[in-house]
Amino acid sequence: MREEPTDEVNAAIAEIARRYPQPRSAALMVLHFLQERFGCLTPPLIEQAAEQLGLQPVNLYELVTFYPMFRMRPAGRWHLRLCRTLSCALAGSAELHRYLCEKLGLDPSERGPQTTPDGRVTVEFVDCLARCHQAPAALCNEEEWDRVDKGKLDEFLRRLESERGDELG
Ligand code: FES
Repeated sequence: MREEPTDEVNAAIAEIARRYPQPRSAALMVLHFLQERFGCLTPPLIEQAAEQLGLQPVNLYELVTFYPMFRMRPAGRWHLRLCRTLSCALAGSAELHRYLCEKLGLDPSERGPQTTPDGRVTVEFVDCLARCHQAPAALCNEEEWDRVDKGKLDEFLRRLESERGDELG
């Protein structure tokens, strides 16, 4: 995957920007597009997008660093976000986060994103996912997980093992 924007990517950014009355209004959609296309938002991508939208890079950096859905480093193939905010905390999300980190050999005290050495899984302890009524809630890539428990995490871990087995043949 290329890390620099190509003409094709620049054309796609221009096309997104055309749908909005102000280029600045297209910023979030452009960032989502770039993250999906490149896996993460690197400084060259952010700066190129800012230039194309007629913005200062800081206008995009402030969005990237504010919204937890954006990332500046690549995530694993599976990106599991567990909610740590009140409803989910009361429903045991800290214990689930600790359990998962320990099973994957990650640091349970780390709240930010951390990825297993094989690049397969990124675990992140995030703020409210807006699914408080389904606490503890999680997001696995784009899939919403409701009322997560250790059984659900074990199921996920078994799936990882099975994937590993398939890859080894
Ligand atoms: S508190 Fe966890 S989804 Fe809102």
